[in-house]
Amino acid sequence: MELTQVTEETLLKEFQAKIDADAKIEPNDWMPEDYRTHLIRQISQHAHSEVIGMQPEGNWITRAPSLRSKKILLAKIQDEGGHGLYLYSAAETLGVSRDQFIQWLHEGKAKYSSIFNYPTLNWADIGAIGWLVDGAAITNQVSLQRTSYGPYSRAMVRICKEESFHQRQGYEIMWKMMEGTKEQRAMAQDAMNRWWWPALMMFGPKDGDSPRSGTAMKYKIKRETNDQLREKFIQKTIPQAHLIGLTVPDSEIKLLEDGTYSHGEIDWNEFWTVVNGDGPCNKQRLAHHVKYHEEGAWVRECAQAFEDYLTK
Ligand code: 3HC
Repeated sequence: MELTQVTEETLLKEFQAKIDADAKIEPNDWMPEDYRTHLIRQISQHAHSEVIGMQPEGNWITRAPSLRSKKILLAKIQDEGGHGLYLYSAAETLGVSRDQFIQWLHEGKAKYSSIFNYPTLNWADIGAIGWLVDGAAITNQVSLQRTSYGPYSRAMVRICKEESFHQRQGYEIMWKMMEGTKEQRAMAQDAMNRWWWPALMMFGPKDGDSPRSGTAMKYKIKRETNDQLREKFIQKTIPQAHLIGLTVPDSEIKLLEDGTYSHGEIDWNEFWTVVNGDGPCNKQRLAHHVKYHEEGAWVRECAQAFEDYLTK
């Protein structure tokens, strides 16, 4: 047996023993290539999601219905940009530059969460995004706090602290609208109807259809599967909707004897259509990102020149 092969096998055994013992893997630790590449993909796409997610909400800053709601929305969107920076920094520890991540995104080689490829038509959508989209993200991210990769886990702990404010402010918007006029209640219900199913799609493919869930669970990158997390979110959110008088747009929802809810199935054709680039806003979101990345090049160049001056 080749020395390198023995070393590789020994290293892999030692690595898996660390994973099985719930130890954190740090950037300078040896790690198998499929662990590294899985993390590069997942963390960078998570970062892209945070930044692209600023677009649909950003459309409503100038049209927020009060100064208070404008301030809250500004704070939330600023948080999302910061989440993107934490996650790009965590992804860069795996040996890939931020410029490379952005290039992959612009070339269509990297994705971001499908949820941001739907339009925000009115103020109720901002409530639905905060409550449902950030609520789904929290369900996923609370679990990711226990991911085996140290920098990702620590980024999640920080991000989760801010996400709970995002979810609550969204639910407050929906609650206020449901206590409002007939038109406001209709707007909130319409937003619920448009955002419920895309929010469930945020948890990814069904466990049996996910090409990567196996690796994610073997290496404890993910601690719960896509379906487990999706179910957790559904069971938690249906009572929240009913509490403020919203109807969940799923005719198969029934309260069962054990206190949980039965529910229908996602339209997986819609899921894969949007994931594969043909959603309502895919082209618009990417074009916007490319345009402002290029227009902002001078800021990056100035910052780099200043750093070069300080360090020469
Ligand atoms: N949106 C976009 N692409 C998706 C997707 C979704 N909802 N679900 C799956 N995909 C893509 C995958 O990226 C993969 O594409 P690729 O091969 O080009 O990379 C392909 O579909 C196959 O899917 P996988 O089996 O690999 O998907 P996973 O089992 O890994 O599940 C995931 C996808 C749920 C996004 C998972 O990667 C994950 O949990 N990522 C970390 C959490 C995350 O990224 N959340 C983003 C939510 S938005 C957010 O947090 C912002 C907040 O402020 C609202």
